[in-house]
Amino acid sequence: MPIPTTPFGSTPLRLPRLGLGLAALGRPGYINLGHGEDLEANYEVAAMERRTHEMLGLAFDKGVRYFDAARSYGKAEDFLLSWLQEHPEKAAEVTVGSKWGYTYTAGWKVEAEEHEVKEHSLEVLERQWKLSKRLLPYLKLYQIHSATFRSGVLENTEVLNRLATLKAEGVAIGLSLSGADQQQVLARAMEVEIDGKRLFDAVQATFNILEPSAGRQLQDAAGRGMAVIIKEALANGRLTARHNDPAFTPKRLVLKRLADNHGVGIDALALAYVLRFPWAHLVLSGAARAEHLLSNLRAANVALSDGEVEELNRLAMPVEAYWEERSGLAWN
Ligand SMILES: NC(=O)c1ccc[n+]([C@@H]2O[C@H](COP(=O)([O-])OP(=O)(O)OC[C@H]3O[C@@H](n4cnc5c(N)ncnc54)[C@H](OP(=O)(O)O)[C@@H]3O)[C@@H](O)[C@H]2O)c1
Repeated sequence: MPIPTTPFGSTPLRLPRLGLGLAALGRPGYINLGHGEDLEANYEVAAMERRTHEMLGLAFDKGVRYFDAARSYGKAEDFLLSWLQEHPEKAAEVTVGSKWGYTYTAGWKVEAEEHEVKEHSLEVLERQWKLSKRLLPYLKLYQIHSATFRSGVLENTEVLNRLATLKAEGVAIGLSLSGADQQQVLARAMEVEIDGKRLFDAVQATFNILEPSAGRQLQDAAGRGMAVIIKEALANGRLTARHNDPAFTPKRLVLKRLADNHGVGIDALALAYVLRFPWAHLVLSGAARAEHLLSNLRAANVALSDGEVEELNRLAMPVEAYWEERSGLAWN
């Protein structure tokens, strides 16, 4: 069955509801469980480009039409650009979203003092836009990477005005969120207007079985015409069969039983849980291996019952505990 499609908020786009994110493909180090293993510790640029191209090709052949990148994902934008240039006929059907605000500082290493540095200044926006705009015309969405109250970007008028000029040039403007206060930051972002019009066309947020706290605010954003992209639907691997922490066993047994009911993996069940919310316009897979992507895409065929959703709702973690655990995940 093809991936169901949906209007992408009030943008002119209509997209299949499963997309592919490149956070784990564009650089040697990332926080996802088992990331190092997935890349088979082969960090040669050509090898990683080849792997990314294989994943993009497979995703496209399976109906995916949205790819999510960022300046801080190492060479993700470069690998995406070379694939688009090698496949112009496919590129014509592709929508790319990228992000600015974090600068990659890991020097192509798995271990690094700092993997990325956040600065939501006009100088960084101008520097990174110069690089990201190479992806035009496929780049249709440009997002602030992990906007927070602390970064001050939602009060930075010169940055907001610059984003408005990009919007006037035809690029949709968005923001991604991170942390226990996603819903409060989104509520503030929804009030940001330039010349009387809401600036942000789209929001990207963490929402999953363990961390559903931003749900109501995301639903409200969708109701007001914003496009909603869901990231970390698998909690960086904690909602997959690979999460074998004994403390997680009771929850994993519930997930496994329900996944078995539908003949899919825990990953597809977790993605199907998110797809069940119509306001979750686009749900990202973060797979770095072909078999994981194929397993993730099976979520498109899973229809959960109300009873199953109620059971899954009971697996939610306290918000602070979820983000504390996430910040403890090792770069590997
Ligand atoms: N602040 C932000 O803006 C932000 C933050 C995080 C993510 N994102 C976006 O969201 C995308 C997805 O998020 P994410 O990658 O961070 O997290 P995620 O989707 O929650 O987790 C992906 C992890 O689950 C593993 N996995 C998937 N299917 C599996 C299976 N069947 N069996 C075992 N393991 C499986 C993947 O392993 P493999 O790698 O082995 O396939 C990967 O390690 C990113 O690529 C990025 O585009 C944005």
